[in-house]
Amino acid sequence: MYRVSVIGAGKVGWRLAQALENAGHYIEEIWSRKPDNAARLVDHLYNARAQESLDFSSSRAEIFLLAVTDTAAPDVAASLMLPAGALLAHTSGSLSMEILAQAANQYGVFYPLQTFSKERVVDLSEVPFCLEANDKQALSVLKKLAGSLSRQVYELDAAKRKVLHVAAVFACNFTNHLLHISEEILEDGGLDTQLLYPLVMETIHKSMELGPTQAQTGPAVRDDHQVMDAHLQQLEEEPEWAELYYLLSRDIIRRHRQE
Ligand SMILES: NC(=O)c1ccc[n+]([C@@H]2O[C@H](COP(=O)([O-])OP(=O)(O)OC[C@H]3O[C@@H](n4cnc5c(N)ncnc54)[C@H](OP(=O)(O)O)[C@@H]3O)[C@@H](O)[C@H]2O)c1
Repeated sequence: MYRVSVIGAGKVGWRLAQALENAGHYIEEIWSRKPDNAARLVDHLYNARAQESLDFSSSRAEIFLLAVTDTAAPDVAASLMLPAGALLAHTSGSLSMEILAQAANQYGVFYPLQTFSKERVVDLSEVPFCLEANDKQALSVLKKLAGSLSRQVYELDAAKRKVLHVAAVFACNFTNHLLHISEEILEDGGLDTQLLYPLVMETIHKSMELGPTQAQTGPAVRDDHQVMDAHLQQLEEEPEWAELYYLLSRDIIRRHRQE
């Protein structure tokens, strides 16, 4: 069991701190830019305390997880003061681990490939944890830490993690944005948004079972320009959605003509 401090009480810090504690680790300190956010997370933990400064030099923690937004991470890392021998890892899919090199001798990446929100508890046991470290000992510690949360632990270098991250943006963030558009279209048409839920669930399950090529249906894969033109006309008042519809349909047509 490790003593861990979490720097960042956002979506990832919130979920990881609680999951680590449930797995038997000790959370020592929580830091967040807004001290109230650290205090709020501490209220959900057993013995952790909220820390206002980035001077952790007297902390008892062995592992420090940096879970702040990607844009803030380099500056926060540069301001950190850690105890000698501490291991520092960030949780980002896109940042290089070298941004941590000035702050600790042992550093790495502890990237959970999942979408997190404070309001929703996620079962981490099947979440892939993608790890990287600057030396074998640090990697071994991160593997043990990730292994205490999940059965899926991978060592991934920065180049592969970046590939994974862009794929994840398509699979997760863009899918969610398209769901958002669908919801607004239904609302504008006076329809219940829940009508789409069974379709959405089956789409995801079928795509994973059959693969996305086999699973694709709809006007674009059928090359049905009559229906696609009618949809584009329906979307005339939302030119950005019409553009997305056009680009996605064109890519589906191109893809399926190749096969
Ligand atoms: N969200 C996900 O689903 C997810 C999944 C995997 C990995 N990640 C990665 O995990 C890291 C944290 O993401 P998150 O979603 O937890 O972020 P978040 O919820 O937006 O916020 C995380 C923390 O960043 C702090 N912060 C924001 N701007 C700051 C600034 N300018 N200076 C100092 N601190 C600042 C916030 O402080 P206050 O709130 O107190 O202001 C908060 O403590 C990122 O590297 C992200 O790429 C996210």
